[in-house]
Amino acid sequence: MASNKDKLLEKIASRDARIGVIGLGYVGLPLVVEFGHGGFVSTGFEVDQRKADAINRGESYIPDVPTAHVAELVKAGKLSATTDFSGLKDQDIIIICVPTPLRKTKDPDVSFILSASEKIQATLKPGQLVILESTTYPGTTDEVLKPMFDETGLKLDEDYFLEQCFVIRWE
Ligand SMILES: NC(=O)c1ccc[n+]([C@@H]2O[C@H](COP(=O)([O-])OP(=O)(O)OC[C@H]3O[C@@H](n4cnc5c(N)ncnc54)[C@H](O)[C@@H]3O)[C@@H](O)[C@H]2O)c1
Repeated sequence: MASNKDKLLEKIASRDARIGVIGLGYVGLPLVVEFGHGGFVSTGFEVDQRKADAINRGESYIPDVPTAHVAELVKAGKLSATTDFSGLKDQDIIIICVPTPLRKTKDPDVSFILSASEKIQATLKPGQLVILESTTYPGTTDEVLKPMFDETGLKLDEDYFLEQCFVIRWE
């Protein structure tokens, strides 16, 4: 029987993988639009209802992302946005793009990541890949996300997959 990893790779190759991006800001909106352009059905999960509504009307609110691109993808059924996080269960790949503002101590505030991860944990299922794109300290996936996801009984690298993108912040 094909492993969860092989099944996911096959879905990515065939563009059948469903992509969910949590946080539709300066990072998340361009990302979800690019996945839509790449042929994937992409969904943005936002806490701000006004942003979700704008996307579903086919309007961009980020200068780098042309409204025409958003409108075209929404019309084609490749892009939508929602404040209902129950739809995370239908995603094959979930990318976290929530804010991580620096505290006075210069440590990143990971509370937004925790909130997003709790939503993922609630519906985590075999075959899902979670990618942490928000800027944070190395080890956030192993020390914070993995223990939360392991509580579901699913096993890392067998049932679910976890990656952290590194972005260097010069401050
Ligand atoms: N903007 C950049 O150039 C840039 C570059 C590299 C890395 N980053 C990192 O990417 C991350 C996102 O940055 P950004 O500039 O896109 O931030 P942003 O503030 O523009 O967007 C974040 C979005 O997340 C939403 N959000 C907040 N909490 C949420 C939650 N629990 N669930 C769903 N959505 C939620 C907000 O409403 C907002 O729309 C940060 O960690 C930042 O450091 C940003």
